[in-house]
Amino acid sequence: MNCLVFVCAVAVVASLPVAAAHAGDEADPVFGIKTPAGYRDWKLISVAHEEGKLDDLRAVLGNDIAVDAYREGKERFPDGAIIARLAWAYTASEENNKVFGQRQSFVAGAPKEGVQFMVKDSQKYAATGGWGFAQFNDGKPADAAVITACFPCHAPAKAHDFVFTRYAP
Ligand code: HEC
Repeated sequence: MNCLVFVCAVAVVASLPVAAAHAGDEADPVFGIKTPAGYRDWKLISVAHEEGKLDDLRAVLGNDIAVDAYREGKERFPDGAIIARLAWAYTASEENNKVFGQRQSFVAGAPKEGVQFMVKDSQKYAATGGWGFAQFNDGKPADAAVITACFPCHAPAKAHDFVFTRYAP
């Protein structure tokens, strides 16, 4: 069985140049992930605001497998779980501020920083903690250099199965 897992991991790596060679292919160049259908309708896990150069408002959504795992307090996400991160410009709302009589309202502006996904498949993505990573900018997959930076930065969250976001009740 271990052998099979190993072969799968090697197969993912071996397929990299082939996947990258298909111009116009919508799949992520490293993990072969395509934009999951219907992700915009998934349930809300939590929201966050990044300052600094990101300066965004973001929402983390999950498919049913991911959200059920959160709600059941599972320590590891089962295969098939997908977590999505959407982000928008952190934009002052003049319309709302007029109503409040002061500057206090910030809303989601234009989408930014693409849409990111983490897809759980413990065999296929064994080399990266069981997660495949993808990012789509206006529907186009991000470069391999961007994608290979995902897992190392998520490594500090290893105790939570490489996921930072906690479920907001
Ligand atoms: C610089 C470090 C860093 C890099 C690089 C990075 N992430 Fe993250 N990611 C984070 C942190 C920290 C959070 C939680 C941010 C927050 O909610 O404020 C996060 C959140 C996420 C989430 C929501 C689930 C979670 O773990 O909280 C997804 C999905 C995600 N990242 C996918 C990706 C993908 C895909 C890439 C590569 C294209 C990537 N990330 C690159 C640090 C990083």
